[in-house]
Formats: sequence, C-alpha cells, structure tokens
Amino acid sequence: MSSAPGEALETLRRHFGAAQLARFGAIDWVASIDSTQAGLQRRGVDPRGPAVLIADAQSAGRGRRGHAWQSPPDANLYLSMQRRLGLAPRALSGLSLVIGLATAEALHARGLHEVRVKWPNDLLARGRKLGGVLVELAGDAACIGLGLNLRMPEATAALIDQPWIDLATLGADDTREAIAAAVLVAWLDALELFSRDGLAAFAARWDALDALAGREVRVLGAEGELLGQACGIAPDGGLRVRLAHGERVFHSADVSLRAA
Ligand code: BTN
Repeated sequence: MSSAPGEALETLRRHFGAAQLARFGAIDWVASIDSTQAGLQRRGVDPRGPAVLIADAQSAGRGRRGHAWQSPPDANLYLSMQRRLGLAPRALSGLSLVIGLATAEALHARGLHEVRVKWPNDLLARGRKLGGVLVELAGDAACIGLGLNLRMPEATAALIDQPWIDLATLGADDTREAIAAAVLVAWLDALELFSRDGLAAFAARWDALDALAGREVRVLGAEGELLGQACGIAPDGGLRVRLAHGERVFHSADVSLRAA
C-alpha cells in the first residue's frame, strides 16, 4: 500500500535533497484529480520555476490523440511538470522525444536496462508499452505529463487495448517517490541541454535506446498505411522510414512494429 500524499511528498523531497529541490518552483502530490495535466494548466505558469503535480489517481487521465489514460489509485505514476521554455515553436518538435529519452535513461540508471523509447514518445520494454509522455503547449510554456506503469491492477489491465508491461514485471522494486525524483531531475537536465543545444545533442542517445531502429514497421498516417523499415530520427525529430521507393520522414503518424 502506498503512503498518504503528504508523506509521499515528504519522501519525494528527501529523495531530491536541497540542491535539486531548489530547481523547482512548486511540487504537489494529491490523492486524486481529474488529470495532473489539467490541474497544472488551470493554475497557470508558476513564476518561481517548474511546477510539478503528482496524483495517486486520475479520474480523467489524458493520453495522446484524445485517448484516455487508465489511472487506478496507488498503482502507477501519474506525473506532470509545467514550465516556461523560451523556445521557438519550431524548436519544440523534439521536446517529447527528449523527455521520453530522459525518462528511459533515468530508468536505466536504476538498473532497468530493458527500457526503450518508441517514436515519438512511448516507453517500451519487451516490446510492450511501459509508459507514455504527453506534451501540451500553452503559450511559451510546456506541460509535460508521464504515465508510467508500476504495478498494474488486473481490473485495469482488462481495460487496456494494447500490449502493456509494468515495472513490477521487469523486477523493479523502486518506490513511486524514488522513480519520480529520478525522472524529474533527468527532465530538468535534459530540458537545459535541449534549450541550449537542441535535439542534435540527443541524437546518439536516442539511437542507443531506439526500439524501432532497423525494424519493419507499419506507419499509419495521412496517406493510409505504409510499410517500411524504421531508420532513426531526422534532425527535426521526425521518424525516418525506408519505403519501397525511398526514405520518408514522418512527423505525425501511428507507428507499430510488424510481427517478425
Ligand atoms: C500516451 O498516450 O502515451 C501519453 C500518456 C500520458 C499520461 C499521463 S498520466 C499523467 C499526466 N496526466 C494526464 O492526464 N496525462 C499524463
């Protein structure tokens, strides 16, 4: 059983230590909310710095493309951070890649070496979805959300329409607080580097954890379904796919792995 939100927040703050804690404007942990994304956006941008909101449960968790994000109580991590970015809109296309990558690397650093990134912002392990990143922009601020499966209850699992996995299955026994602290520090470090050097600074790191590289994929985009071989990301964050008639870069598409 997890701790009460007040205790969880104290534990989270201890995991950070004073120096890391000073990098945040506000950190809150609530028992329940409609969506941590919605909650932060209702508050507006915190002038003191990055604002973090974590919930034990969400009643209207938001996934990408209007999908719901199943958010049962005390089972998984539901985390959002909102901060001003000061980047040109065209520079933002790589943001969700950078955040997904930073999350995967934070999990690797905790010994979870099976975690991979799947363009544009899924976390996979053993070919199944472990978590997802949602980036919503409001003016020059970004609200970044992470849903990460820690220990999925059976009743919720029945409602999920895609192959999934949780950290418990991967053998992790880290607490939500420890994982949240590691992820948030990784996000701040990655955002600093991204603001300074752009996506190019992450290209090799993406390649090292890319779940799709070299794999046969099915791309569902504006032109319907196309089959090809994924070959990494383009400098602007698009997905490079080798099709029968040459390489194309996709910026908005659903991509799935084809069965071996
Ligand atoms: C995806 O579709 O893969 C992205 C899912 C993002 C879910 C997280 S849970 C915390 C935050 N609050 C939300 O309502 N959504 C994000």
